[in-house]
Amino acid sequence: MAEEAVLRYLQNHNEISDSGHFAAEHGIDHNEIVNVVKSLHGFRYVEAQDIKKETWVLTDEGKRYAAEGSPEVQLFLAVPPEGGISKDELQKKFDPAVFKIGCSQAGKNKWVEMGKQLSRKVQHVEDKVKDLLLQIQNGQGVEKDDINPLKARKLIALQTWKGYSVKKGPNYAPERKKAATDLTRENLQRGDWKDLEFKEYNFSAKGPPAECGHLHPLNKVKERLKNIFRMMKFEEMPTNRFVESSFWNFDALFQPQQHPARDSHDTFFVQVPSTTKQLPEDYVERVKHVHESGGYGSRGYCYEWKRDEANKNLLRTHTTAISSRMLYALAQHAKEQTFTPKRYFSIDRVFRNEAVDRTHLAEFHQIEGLVCDRGLTLSHLIGVLDDFFSRLGMSKLRFKPAYNPYTEPSMEIFSYHEGFGKWVEIGNSGMFRPEMLRPMGFPEDVNVIAWGLSLERPTMILYGIDNIRDLFGHKVDLGLIKKNPLCLIGIQDADG
Ligand code: PHE
Repeated sequence: MAEEAVLRYLQNHNEISDSGHFAAEHGIDHNEIVNVVKSLHGFRYVEAQDIKKETWVLTDEGKRYAAEGSPEVQLFLAVPPEGGISKDELQKKFDPAVFKIGCSQAGKNKWVEMGKQLSRKVQHVEDKVKDLLLQIQNGQGVEKDDINPLKARKLIALQTWKGYSVKKGPNYAPERKKAATDLTRENLQRGDWKDLEFKEYNFSAKGPPAECGHLHPLNKVKERLKNIFRMMKFEEMPTNRFVESSFWNFDALFQPQQHPARDSHDTFFVQVPSTTKQLPEDYVERVKHVHESGGYGSRGYCYEWKRDEANKNLLRTHTTAISSRMLYALAQHAKEQTFTPKRYFSIDRVFRNEAVDRTHLAEFHQIEGLVCDRGLTLSHLIGVLDDFFSRLGMSKLRFKPAYNPYTEPSMEIFSYHEGFGKWVEIGNSGMFRPEMLRPMGFPEDVNVIAWGLSLERPTMILYGIDNIRDLFGHKVDLGLIKKNPLCLIGIQDADG
């Protein structure tokens, strides 16, 4: 309707000099006219020129006084003509702001005598403020000198009004031709395709967002890490068992049965089935022996090792449980045939009975790598870690002596974080102890170097997420999963 009005009007008139007046005269919303003019201008049906006008409008406070009267007049009227009224009593009749303004203006105008008792000094007053505000509200002009006091009292404010003056354009027609968007069978049959004007393709139009699945940031980072491991010739270990026996999770790793990590405060034990069905018995015997009285140059822990404790099922607390199974299998293979060096890795879920906070979850992912070969030393471990972490974009590394029951020596890994400007702990590593490897059946000169870290840590650094619960778990916003970018490890600095 707005478009029709504009085009028809221009048929018999030279111009629409002011789109605002035009809208008012035709009873059409000005915004609608503006939209139509913009579109018609785009297709050169009309030529439009901007007009800007500044007008005074009432502020909320101004509107209130326009309706209720100015505070000074309200105050004046509340003072009884025949005599005084105490300030306290008068104050009760007003809201504090109105009372304050009313007093000061009425005092300035010399309308009332101020003091403990207030009394009228004049008989009659006019509400000029209210009248001026009403004039402005109704779009009537007011004198320049009247504007300033209202502006100073913040009862009015300047508003810029934008509109157009409109003339015919080079493509003017009294009606817009609808461009065809499709060539139909009917067009062909009727032959009217010859007269049709087709809408041009808009190659820069944005398509609707693709409705498809989206990979979680953890999955994306995991995939890239897998590629790094594969490039370093590591084989993936089968991690498809969340439930593990205490034996593979702890005992095989020379973790004593009284170790605090084996407490139910730190570990989720499984109730059904609560114990494992089978373990390799001769190996279990050797593990029992090494715990109780050592061997291979060790004194052991000198305590009575209990089979019941080893049988307890749990949700694995680290992926090193898988490493111990894999190394045991490798040692059996070595016993039967010959020893083959191996590089293994895994990235999967682990569980810890921990209080959840910004940096801890009871369920998270571990990345683990290990190399099993003859004659490996600590420098091999440092070399592999340097290689691995520099592929992740972390090339400044530092190591700190640490303790794990199953590694000796052990090192915590720190990386310099350029963004945080400090060293941050990124992982843990070490050389598996003979007390772990020898009962498995490995020859004396076979060593294993290994390291582990969480998948969440580098992912949070890469994606700039500072609360782990925003990344993983039931509180994760699906929008984040949909919109997160692809963060390239190693290419973009993982530290920054
Ligand atoms: N299992 C260790 C952890 O849970 C990580 C680790 C793996 C340490 C391999 C040393 C060697 O933190």
